[in-house]
Amino acid sequence: MVIRLVLLIAVIALTWASECLAESASCVRCHDGCSGERAVQQHQEGLLSTLACVDCHRGNPTTLRRQLAHYRLIEANHSWYRFTESDVVRRGQHLVDLLACRRCHVLAGKGNPLAADLDRLYQQVLPDEVVASIRVPAFFMPDFSLQQGDVDALVNVIFAAGLKPQWASSQPPQVIHFENGVDEKNLFEKHCGSCHRLLTAKQGGLGTGAIAPNLSGLFSSFYPKTHKDNQPWDIQGLKKWIKNPRAIRPLTRMLPVVLQEQEMTKLIDETWPLNVKEPLP
Ligand code: HEC
Ligand code: HEC
Ligand code: HEC
Ligand code: HEC
Repeated sequence: MVIRLVLLIAVIALTWASECLAESASCVRCHDGCSGERAVQQHQEGLLSTLACVDCHRGNPTTLRRQLAHYRLIEANHSWYRFTESDVVRRGQHLVDLLACRRCHVLAGKGNPLAADLDRLYQQVLPDEVVASIRVPAFFMPDFSLQQGDVDALVNVIFAAGLKPQWASSQPPQVIHFENGVDEKNLFEKHCGSCHRLLTAKQGGLGTGAIAPNLSGLFSSFYPKTHKDNQPWDIQGLKKWIKNPRAIRPLTRMLPVVLQEQEMTKLIDETWPLNVKEPLP
């Protein structure tokens, strides 16, 4: 009995060890010396000893056919996501705050869930598809016109967040926004939508304009503090702005929108409902 147990343990240990070795084996056979020389050197100097190639790059380590081995590969420029202290990831974090991605997206468990949950992308989407979504944005996402290096930094930040399972699984499924025709009865579409767009939790995307800022999540803490003196936007501040934008920002291009008090209250209430606290459950 004891001998059987020892044998069993030995077999398990051996299988485990050989699997560990096999995990990187085919990658290293090609990437040793020839194509990956620089990488492998860097990798050896660095902290990489505890992780297998596929932990960072994905791919299939059981084959020596390049195309198969590179299946769903994460290329070098998107492989920094494991290094949360790297310049690339820090740059990405800075851009996420600067461009206020979280006024519409949840990232690393924080943000308004008005558009797709970015924490799911690491599991579900290829890096090139994430790049394409940022470069050629959906109708209700702003076009940030970023350089390639900045887009790559954002991909790394999105993947870094997706590594954490507690974030990747906690959010509801993504919202899909249809590009409907203009609804003349909707006060935002009627009075603001020719210049602005926004995402709402209840009514989906509103407006078609591209010449003015996207107003998604205006009253949330994720919207840039662009009211007077770096203050956040609130109902009173917005009312003042609609009545006379230049009283708040002397050189602004937006002209006053003439609305009766009642209509203005209704517009704000419908568009940024405070009682249905965003993020919505
Ligand atoms: C049959 C040989 C072969 C195998 C097996 C192989 N590679 Fe490669 N790999 C290459 C060659 C050649 C290149 C450079 C040309 C290219 O990008 O396709 C490359 C490029 C790469 C790059 C850089 C791509 C970029 O553009 O940033 C990474 C990362 C990479 N391989 C990872 C892996 C991983 C991880 C494995 C194992 C799962 C693996 N490779 C298996 C031959 C191989
Ligand atoms: C902890 C994460 C991590 C692990 C593990 C890892 N890599 Fe990398 N790899 C990176 C990063 C980050 C880069 C980008 C380095 C750079 O651009 O200087 C990279 C770059 C590369 C490149 C491109 C090099 C070039 O000159 O463009 C290849 C090829 C590569 N890795 C192959 C491998 C192989 C093979 C293994 C397994 C032996 C491996 N990597 C393990 C993170 C990792
Ligand atoms: C004003 C709202 C808004 C802002 C701000 C915004 N996005 Fe988006 N984003 C969207 C919408 C709408 C979609 C399309 C998917 C959907 O309807 O949920 C989308 C889609 C994406 C996708 C593709 C998601 C998928 O499921 O494949 C990525 C990646 C993305 N955004 C990244 C970003 C990043 C990074 C930022 C900040 C630099 C950002 N977004 C800022 C609204 C926004
Ligand atoms: C004719 C076009 C036009 C209409 C209609 C319009 N806006 Fe604007 N709005 C702009 C422009 C242009 C800006 C950018 C001003 C600037 O950069 O100073 C702006 C800026 C804003 C801002 C400041 C956003 C920020 O982050 O700086 C808010 C808030 C705003 N508009 C709300 C509204 C609301 C609410 C309505 C409808 C009642 C509306 N706007 C109607 C053109 C318009």
